[in-house]
Amino acid sequence: MSDRDRDGAAAEAIAHPNIALAKYWGKRSFGHNLPAVPSLSVTLEGMATRTRVVLDAAATSDTFLLAGTVAPDAAKVRVVGLLHRVRQRAGSSLFARVESANDFPTSSGLASSASAFAALATAATAVYGVDASDAERSSLARKTSVSAARSVLGGFVELRAGIEGDVELAAVQLAPPEAWEVAIVVAATTRAAKETASTEGMAHTVATSPYHAAWVDYAPRVFEQAKAALAARDIEKMGDAVEASAFAMHADAIAARPTVVYWNPGTMAAIAEVRALRKGGLGVWATMDAGPHVKVLTRAADADRVRDAMRAVPGVVDAFIARPGAGSRILSDAASSSR
Ligand code: DP6
Repeated sequence: MSDRDRDGAAAEAIAHPNIALAKYWGKRSFGHNLPAVPSLSVTLEGMATRTRVVLDAAATSDTFLLAGTVAPDAAKVRVVGLLHRVRQRAGSSLFARVESANDFPTSSGLASSASAFAALATAATAVYGVDASDAERSSLARKTSVSAARSVLGGFVELRAGIEGDVELAAVQLAPPEAWEVAIVVAATTRAAKETASTEGMAHTVATSPYHAAWVDYAPRVFEQAKAALAARDIEKMGDAVEASAFAMHADAIAARPTVVYWNPGTMAAIAEVRALRKGGLGVWATMDAGPHVKVLTRAADADRVRDAMRAVPGVVDAFIARPGAGSRILSDAASSSR
């Protein structure tokens, strides 16, 4: 396809956040944005990023609108980086207009970069006419944000650790969304944006935390437990791995100098409620990402009860149920010219 044919082409993609049941935290030192540890996640329906990419032969640079306003430079740099890789692959020199919107709070530890770059990799490859497999889109998204590699796939997803020599590294689906009747109850503990982005938080942790080597040694074992629990559909075993992974990751970050603490008082209150519910016999396990929200793994049949209990916790501003969902996909095709 030539740039003359591409001019005016548009594609829109949707992607969902994912929650890591076994966490990634820390990159390899040999470049290419490779994770130092394996991770296992579940992609969630109910929250979504929608991203539209339009190619414009008259444009002299890329533009990026987030929720209708010009995005901050730090966000734009990552978008342009991904677009540049797609242009190289496509042999194109056309700039793009990118419009993206989330239906959940951005940069608050609800994994907005994961759904954002999964959606962008999907829309951008389509609009530039690159016939990309799931693996190629996942690897492309991963080069910008590691967790985004996992949101390209639906359901339960694995991303192995990077090894020396890796350039392409993609996530793979372990089980489709309908394979296991579980739910994640998201207990939001603030409406504000987080203070330390995950990229910076983990780089600082790698550089200064005395616990980081222990984390890198420990995380693969917890990942293996999570993978075995998924294969056996054993939620008790998964829940144990989920909490082990989350608390070890945060211990690593908290030990950084100066400390990286993502939690607020609502986080602690929500964790206490999860423990109380579990003591009362409910199957509930807590996990937190690079933000103060608490995500609770539970059986689908118990999700309403868990949501109601989390809503009543002081410091929890909202709680909602998210079920396993699909990977990133095109909503409207590049074939439809926008002008
Ligand atoms: C705590 O994928 O946002 O959510 O690769 O630098 O973009 P970059 O970081 P990002 O980190 C996610 C960290 C986490 C755990 C996880 O999702 O595995």
